Amino acid sequence: MNKSLRKAVIAGNWKMNKTPSETTALINEMKPLVANADCDVVVCVPYVDLQAALDATKGSNIKVGAENCHWGKSGAFTGEISTQMLTEMGVEYVIIGHSERRTYFGETNVTVQKRVRAALDAGLKVILCVGEYLEQREQGVTFEVVSEQTKIALGGVSKDELKNIIIAYEPVWAIGTGKTATAEQANEVNHAIREVIAKLYDKAAADAFVVQYGGSMNAGNADELLAQEDVDGGLIGGASLKAKDFSEIVKAASK
Ligand code: PGA
Repeated sequence: MNKSLRKAVIAGNWKMNKTPSETTALINEMKPLVANADCDVVVCVPYVDLQAALDATKGSNIKVGAENCHWGKSGAFTGEISTQMLTEMGVEYVIIGHSERRTYFGETNVTVQKRVRAALDAGLKVILCVGEYLEQREQGVTFEVVSEQTKIALGGVSKDELKNIIIAYEPVWAIGTGKTATAEQANEVNHAIREVIAKLYDKAAADAFVVQYGGSMNAGNADELLAQEDVDGGLIGGASLKAKDFSEIVKAASK
């Protein structure tokens, strides 16, 4: 983290976990533990848990996000949720392009771009996920993959709109596997993403741009990862489902 340039963001990605009543209980447990955070704290929860999360976080420093959104305003898209449905509820953030959506639900760079556009137009803050598969890392094409994902997702995004986007670099081989990228690997790719932003926009925009790391980040490794110059926070899966573990990561980002 470079706190003189950027404010860290720690976001939980609950994935398909927790019912509404469990959401209320977990957030109530988290609230006092993260109340003094010196970073932004976000929980991204399943659609049906959003209302419970909004109610439970009211008056606290925890912001609420969804885990996806559709690009259309309304219409024949069975099972999808529009950005307006989210903003009317008071949802502030949305994750777009998570590797699980790319892998299991046919998400492509093009549909990611459409969802980013719709989210920005609706005034949502976007957590855009990019990252390579293990085979791609082994083949030495990590930077190409991540750079292409970043460039396509940001197609048509103005410099002014960048303030409403952060990127989470999530190597797919590190997600939910307990296999974290080393702090150096995370920093190297995060830095490369910042360079893509500098080329697409300019250095000032790149310096101010938040790039998180995600993939088995936990209470034990957060300090080392967040100590890296270009790691401006984390997108946390498994460890965000336990109040104590999540708050330890928030504490690491608040140093
Ligand atoms: P993990 O998930 O922390 O459980 O590896 C991260 C993510 O998928 O966002």
